[in-house]
Amino acid sequence: MRKKVTIAGAGQTGATLAHWLALRGDVDIVLFDIVDGLPQGKALDLLEAMPVIGSDAKIVGTNSWEATKDSDIVVITSGLPRKPGMSRDDLLKVNAGIVRDVTRAAVAQSPNSILILLTNPLDAMCHIALHESGFPAERVFGQAGILDTARFSSFLAAELGASVADVNAYVLGGHGDDMVPLIGSTNVGGIPVSKLIPAARLEEIVVRARKGGAEIVNLLKTGSAFYAPSAAIAQMIDAVINDRKRILPCAVYTGDNAGGYGVSDLYLGLPARLGAKGVEEIFHIDLTESENSDLQKSAGSVKELVDALKTFDPPMLP
Ligand code: APR
Repeated sequence: MRKKVTIAGAGQTGATLAHWLALRGDVDIVLFDIVDGLPQGKALDLLEAMPVIGSDAKIVGTNSWEATKDSDIVVITSGLPRKPGMSRDDLLKVNAGIVRDVTRAAVAQSPNSILILLTNPLDAMCHIALHESGFPAERVFGQAGILDTARFSSFLAAELGASVADVNAYVLGGHGDDMVPLIGSTNVGGIPVSKLIPAARLEEIVVRARKGGAEIVNLLKTGSAFYAPSAAIAQMIDAVINDRKRILPCAVYTGDNAGGYGVSDLYLGLPARLGAKGVEEIFHIDLTESENSDLQKSAGSVKELVDALKTFDPPMLP
């Protein structure tokens, strides 16, 4: 039977994800939003493209949670972008409230689903979804690392005039300016990247990857990136519905120090095996001393947000 994927939030990332999935045509798609007509209009437009594409994808747009019933996967993109004058805490509070409400409504219809988060600040939003759903952590995870890695990889490929297919890179940590590109584990066609690009130039590329989200926001001015983030989610969905056992960097729950990075009880970008059950295993990569200290710093930034959620009135997390 075809799998059912609900996308909560029919904005830029949600609708573009529906587009990637419809091109593949292997799942039924429900596009949900609170704005009347928005998901219906986008879903209908996309459905009408399918005869041209030659895909039998089913796409439905709705403002009703009932239509999402028995979804296998629910992707949460609902949220507000940061607006001028909004503090980071303001955004955290608003999006935490949206993710809380969406999670409750989604899991009431689809109690056996897998939740994939995209709303920012991503790692903190995963904590909200985990708490509100009551799901085991292997069924609640977030997209960030594939995007961060893809940005880093695309810059390396452009720098070297290489094919993106030959760049093997990894970016771990939280989805923020202190994410951790692993230079020591990055190679192009098997050649360590440090042998191909001088250290100073490599550092510039690392900085650009870390600020990749802001670079797009500054160019677009009216929103944030959506093609690459949604492509990354489409890859995660493929790994789950086809039980591919892909090892991908995802925002995953460390619980009792899963992966052995010395980080507990926190969502963080780490290499994880994704299959039919969701996150099936979190893997350890040997880090250099500086990579490890960067990872700990990044974890500290995520923890600050999680702690802030606990201090809100009323608290968003216990
Ligand atoms: N329930 C469902 N949808 C909601 C809700 C809600 N409670 N509140 C807001 N939305 C919808 C909005 O109506 C909008 O259509 O979420 C959608 C968000 O779309 P965009 O504003 O276009 O934002 P987008 O670029 O898709 O980014 C969404 O993903 O990458 C992150 O930082 C980004 O947090 C942001 C999220």
